[in-house]
Amino acid sequence: MNFYVMTLFPEMIESGMHTSITGRAMAKGLLSLTTVNIRDFSTRGDGRIDDYPYGGGAGMVMQAEPVYRAYEHVVNCIGHRPRLVYLTPQGSVFHQQMAKEFAREEDLVFLCGHYEGIDERVLDEIATDYVSIGDYVLTGGELPSMVMMDAIARMVPGVLSNQESGETETFSGNLLEYPQYSRPELWHDSAVPPVLLSGHHGNVDRWRRDQALYRTLKNRPDLLPGVELDKKDRKFLRELADTAPEPYSVVEEEKEFLRKLLAKHDKA
Ligand code: ADE
Repeated sequence: MNFYVMTLFPEMIESGMHTSITGRAMAKGLLSLTTVNIRDFSTRGDGRIDDYPYGGGAGMVMQAEPVYRAYEHVVNCIGHRPRLVYLTPQGSVFHQQMAKEFAREEDLVFLCGHYEGIDERVLDEIATDYVSIGDYVLTGGELPSMVMMDAIARMVPGVLSNQESGETETFSGNLLEYPQYSRPELWHDSAVPPVLLSGHHGNVDRWRRDQALYRTLKNRPDLLPGVELDKKDRKFLRELADTAPEPYSVVEEEKEFLRKLLAKHDKA
């Protein structure tokens, strides 16, 4: 998979991406990264690429022409018009399914804006996707592009050493991940859950699934309706809705939510 990033801060992208797992994947040739400095395509002698917004208002706008020239440079490198993601809080909010889908592309270009944004006319011509990484405003698109590239990279076959781990983690199947423990068995008076030391794989799997369901209920109940619940899952959730045995703690509002969810499943 080949990433191209059009940015005013290529060094930020290079240093972030050449680290850790994405860095290793690039060294292995599974990923490549090309950064393109939009400033190199300035049409003015002073190297500037921004100007005042028509109609007035605060801040500066990145001009269409330098962005377009940087884009043409990328198109010449790739040999075709690629999919191009413009990072903006106005875009669709990024999620795991999108990461999987983008990971199927051979070439993917990111356009990072700064200041008050980019002249709309060039976006109309070159952007194929408008993506936000969440409902908050950052100073530019560099961090969002790195967030996206990281999430996409780990969906590219071979990037994770154990390909399975890309699938079973948080958000596959809409469930948050179960808690993990490692040595020692007792730390700060807190013991590892005994089931994990039992060596009984079936019980371990069931406990982990229950923990994942419980965590999703507590932290991201909005995800639960999208989870495929089998008989044992429903039995566990019904227990939570009825008695919530130790060590689980479920408030009335959550119990009500579970009752409604289970009633929908019973009908289906
Ligand atoms: N640029 C500034 N804020 C952003 C966000 N939340 N997502 C994507 N791009 C951005």
